[in-house]
Amino acid sequence: KTKKTGRYANIIPMAELNTKEKRLNPFPIYDQLRQSTPVRYDESRSCWDVFRYEDVHRILKDPATFSSKRGMDIRKRENILIMDPPRHTQMRGLVNKAFTPKVVADLAPHITSITNALLDAVLDHGKMDIVSDLAVPLPVIVIAELLGVPTEDRQLFKEWSDILVKGPDENTEEAFNQVVAENAQASEELSAYFARIVEQRRSEPKDDLISLLLAAEIEGQKLNDEEVIAFSILLLAAGNETTTNLIANAVRRLTEDQALQRQLKENPDLIPSFIEEVLRFYPPVQAIGRVATRDVEIGGMQIKAGDQVISWVASANRDEAKFKDPGSFVVDRKPNPHLAFGFGIHFCLGAPLARLEGQIALRTILERLQDIQFVTGSELSYIQSPFVYGVKQYPITFQAIDR
Ligand code: HEM
Repeated sequence: KTKKTGRYANIIPMAELNTKEKRLNPFPIYDQLRQSTPVRYDESRSCWDVFRYEDVHRILKDPATFSSKRGMDIRKRENILIMDPPRHTQMRGLVNKAFTPKVVADLAPHITSITNALLDAVLDHGKMDIVSDLAVPLPVIVIAELLGVPTEDRQLFKEWSDILVKGPDENTEEAFNQVVAENAQASEELSAYFARIVEQRRSEPKDDLISLLLAAEIEGQKLNDEEVIAFSILLLAAGNETTTNLIANAVRRLTEDQALQRQLKENPDLIPSFIEEVLRFYPPVQAIGRVATRDVEIGGMQIKAGDQVISWVASANRDEAKFKDPGSFVVDRKPNPHLAFGFGIHFCLGAPLARLEGQIALRTILERLQDIQFVTGSELSYIQSPFVYGVKQYPITFQAIDR
């Protein structure tokens, strides 16, 4: 017997991840659950959890059966992430061209100079917080420039997007309502902010994504302001929280394994496959939500039309049925069909950009810093979100390399 509400599913963390240690390292729990209950219904969150690669892959590949229109999602604003075809195909088509690997590659020199400028500011100190000094500002500056919004407002963007991915720490009505209220307020403020920019670009278009969206047509119809605002908010938030954690998790990995740090320094050609392995090993997005559109069987369980289904990509990425020695970090793993960017029609639009930013950040760090160490004894806290995985601070020490 299953419930159809599922309003907690996209917001509340699993009960199994109930301690700080587990939130910082949830992977052993996923391993256990994948063995014991690969597909299970969680009464407390009113949703199905799916842990095996094969099942997750099947769900993401079949948007007709597993819709992205998440029933009671509190993030109500219509955007492509929570749309189904045909509208999804049309809307995504408008910006696809701006995010192809080829177009994005042209941004490399500029991304490199932003990275260098951020490192210049801290290099003499011999220590920095990799999260606040580099991993947060780099993606925010890049996406703000692409959208055409002032990079000086980046503190605001960060605060807003933090709230958009936030979840309560407790499974209580009170904690839930508070998150809903905060989320609604951040959405309002973001809308008001982008409404002003949209108005400016309507009268005076520039060479940026907001102007592109305003000029675009679907079957002869322009998008309305609401649609342009929703798209802009998605691009801002989706690109921020995730890429920050990719960069921070990558540096975390370097400090956890000094031999790996030396190996990458000597052989920077390994950086792209290193970044892919970080995505598999420490995926910034741990799970992806869908809603069943019909009764369907997954892993021997009967899922009913209307049920919420949560696909744990962080577990799929460590499924021994798909990856050899999945618990080991293999810097040159090939092939590496991880699901960190999802799969199928909703495959991350920003993946080429995120990969490029991650690669450039690591390349520049390894060129300019050596002997990178985590400041032992520092308190680590995790991002309070059901699906986004990362740490809030990560202090490091290093030696600057003379150039
Ligand atoms: C979709 C992860 C960076 C924009 C997704 C999805 C995942 C994901 C898992 C699929 C969600 C689903 O199937 O429901 C990541 C990770 C990133 C990252 C791990 C960084 C390491 C970015 C960046 C941007 C971006 C930099 C934008 C500039 C989007 C958009 C979608 C999306 C617009 C929705 C695509 C659609 O529904 O068709 N991302 N993302 N992402 N991502 Fe990313």
